[in-house]
Amino acid sequence: MGIKTHFPHHSLYADGAFFFYKAQKKVETAAGAVYNAGMSRLDDLFAFLRIPSVSAQAEHAGDVERCADFLVDKLRGMGFSAVKHLTDIHPIVVAHSPHVEGRPTVLIYGHYDVMPVDPLEEWKSAPFEPTVREGRVYARGASDDKGEIMALVLAAEEVMKEDGALPLNVTFLFEGEEERGSESLFKFVQNPEVQKDLACDVIVVSDTGMAAPDIPSFSYGLKGLCCFELEVSGPAMDLHSGIFGGAVSNPITALCEMVASTHDARNRVAVEGFYDGVMPIQNWEKESWKRVPGMSNTELAALTGVPALRTEEGYTGAECVYARPTFELNGISGGYEGEGSKTVIPTRAVAKMSCRLVPGQTPEDILDKVEAHFRKVCPVGVRMKFTRQHGGSAYLSDPNSAFGKAAQKALEDTFGNPPVLVREGGSIPIIAEISRVLGKDALFLGLDLPDARIHSPNENMRLEIFEKGITMGKTLLRLMAQA
Ligand code: BES
Ligand code: ZN
Repeated sequence: MGIKTHFPHHSLYADGAFFFYKAQKKVETAAGAVYNAGMSRLDDLFAFLRIPSVSAQAEHAGDVERCADFLVDKLRGMGFSAVKHLTDIHPIVVAHSPHVEGRPTVLIYGHYDVMPVDPLEEWKSAPFEPTVREGRVYARGASDDKGEIMALVLAAEEVMKEDGALPLNVTFLFEGEEERGSESLFKFVQNPEVQKDLACDVIVVSDTGMAAPDIPSFSYGLKGLCCFELEVSGPAMDLHSGIFGGAVSNPITALCEMVASTHDARNRVAVEGFYDGVMPIQNWEKESWKRVPGMSNTELAALTGVPALRTEEGYTGAECVYARPTFELNGISGGYEGEGSKTVIPTRAVAKMSCRLVPGQTPEDILDKVEAHFRKVCPVGVRMKFTRQHGGSAYLSDPNSAFGKAAQKALEDTFGNPPVLVREGGSIPIIAEISRVLGKDALFLGLDLPDARIHSPNENMRLEIFEKGITMGKTLLRLMAQA
């Protein structure tokens, strides 16, 4: 492949004022375009990406803690007071910039944990050895969320160096459990002392998507989430299907019946009361979402590789993704899954499921309704066990608040186009709770492109987007100081 890395390469930025920018890394893409990235910036990013902070896997607990230490060291080196708070699971890092009297405080949230890497064999380079190919860095966490966090940390560092100090107060709040449900942070933010420590005027989050490399997204909403598992069991042992078949209920068949009953022919969720209180989509939203690049029904089908979309009747793909609640099967298992065939009636079958929620729904209420639905449709001859897992509420804020306007301007100044206003189909379950306990709005300035493959093999971030993320962060901090 035509990718060359000249490293190190020394040249000067136009003003040449900042010694730490002088060293650059030249990255040549296959198309021959040469891209210069600040070397110390990439050193920080790559060191961060090398730590395998997989929050879901016990074997990585030490790595997750090492990743928290890495952030604490980096932030202390910048003059922040950074503290690692230990929890029952993974540490929470809170860091404050030197206090500037009379200026607003922005709380910047992010997560330093990452999703598991499997299937490992599908990665073209090792997930924790950041590798540059064609202008992108490939590594688990490159986009979600280490690249986004590091862009904002470096933005703060560079503003401090360029202007002598930050023009406002910055608190960083970084957790290591987002990808597994933020259990510790939910507890942490209930503490009144913590709430005092995190007091702010606005919350900024960079852990969401962006529409296209030159079209930024300003998101004013997130979906909520609730996860659950349904286990259906029957016979005390696997049975020979010839000796007992036809006489007993097959747990897999029963589970499939139950699961199939969750949607109707219009592809709506058939759980009684599921749509109660759901906030209708506003007309201005429908209009503006028609123009989001990549989000037409045809583009969505092409991007995902499906032969055709299948949406809730009456709604476009974009509307369903951004603002309609959904009910998803995430995994289903039971019986013989090995080579060849085995004529067996298994003892049990399990389905892992989750609902994405929108404003007007709560995880507790939806879990009650879903459980009641399964109890109602559970066929005779099997037992069911419903297990509730983690969740969080949807979140919606006003995109046109003073801080919201500053955020939109920072995005437009950096990317050369005004941001599209969207709601996110994804969830950051802790945000609604942080916003609630602190009484402040959250703004989402995400850098994850549709082709960043977050949660998938070959997760990546375009270096150009990382650099722009830093520029955007610097503009944002400077504009917010005046908002
Ligand atoms: N960064 C994502 C959320 C996201 C990504 C929102 C892209 C919008 C666009 C976050 O790390 C994430 O994946 N959250 C999980 C929730 C968690 C509890 C597993 C999700 O949305 O599935
Ligand atoms: Zn994330």
